[in-house]
Amino acid sequence: MSARRVWKKYGDLDPYFGVISHEAFRAHNLTTDAKDEFYRTGERELAEHLRLVKSVAPLKFRRLAVDFGCGVGRLTFPLASHYERVYGVDISTGMLAQLARNAGERGISNIECRLTIKDIPLQADLIISRIVFQHIPIAEGLQTIVLLWEKLAQEGVLSVEVLLRSDFGLPMKAARWIRDHVPLTSAVINAAKHRPLWQGGMQMNVYPLNDLVGILYDLSATKIGLLRTRPDYMHDGAIVVAMKE
Ligand SMILES: C[S@@+](CC[C@H](N)C(=O)[O-])C[C@H]1O[C@@H](n2cnc3c(N)ncnc32)[C@H](O)[C@@H]1O
Repeated sequence: MSARRVWKKYGDLDPYFGVISHEAFRAHNLTTDAKDEFYRTGERELAEHLRLVKSVAPLKFRRLAVDFGCGVGRLTFPLASHYERVYGVDISTGMLAQLARNAGERGISNIECRLTIKDIPLQADLIISRIVFQHIPIAEGLQTIVLLWEKLAQEGVLSVEVLLRSDFGLPMKAARWIRDHVPLTSAVINAAKHRPLWQGGMQMNVYPLNDLVGILYDLSATKIGLLRTRPDYMHDGAIVVAMKE
């Protein structure tokens, strides 16, 4: 299944679990309390994200922010209380539909949703992205960073999380490759584990730091910084921060 199709499925059928793979967030388990807790994780994470980013680059303007790979708005909602206008970008229509519904229920009116980067205006003061690039093939992800950069205003700041190290050994990598490329394997594994048959196929790509920093150098980025993250117990990552001056 292509990455786009994987995310369409998650968005349509199990959006909250697609964002945080915890049983409490599965569509058939999701209670009001669990959904509130889901969004509270975003408030904590965004506060920490802004604090860390500011340790590398000043966030001078609060006009327009972009949340790339926004999902159901876990980070977009708290971001909207810091910026005049926020664009949430996501390839999954189901995710964006949930975001729009929940924003309406919460009375948040300064968020707009888009399916592609080209549909957001220039002049973003801040671009964030968390737990997204790992799911995008590396060449496409590096190209996406250039496209996002083009949307930054002068003195705007890019802050995207990437994976830099995986503890997956060769057998695990081989098993995941077979699961994702050999027809029906994924459905058989899911059936054995009593999971929905369509589920799976999320890529976990580790980005080459030299190439990434080389791209930022070519873009004349300043105040480049690396803030360590630990997205899950098998991976080390970092928020890559860079400023356009
Ligand atoms: C694990 S979720 C994270 C959502 C959100 N960033 C958060 O932390 O709550 C990954 C999101 O990235 C989106 N995504 C994956 N590939 C993408 C791409 N190429 N362009 C835009 N969004 C993408 C998925 O649809 C999904 O909503």
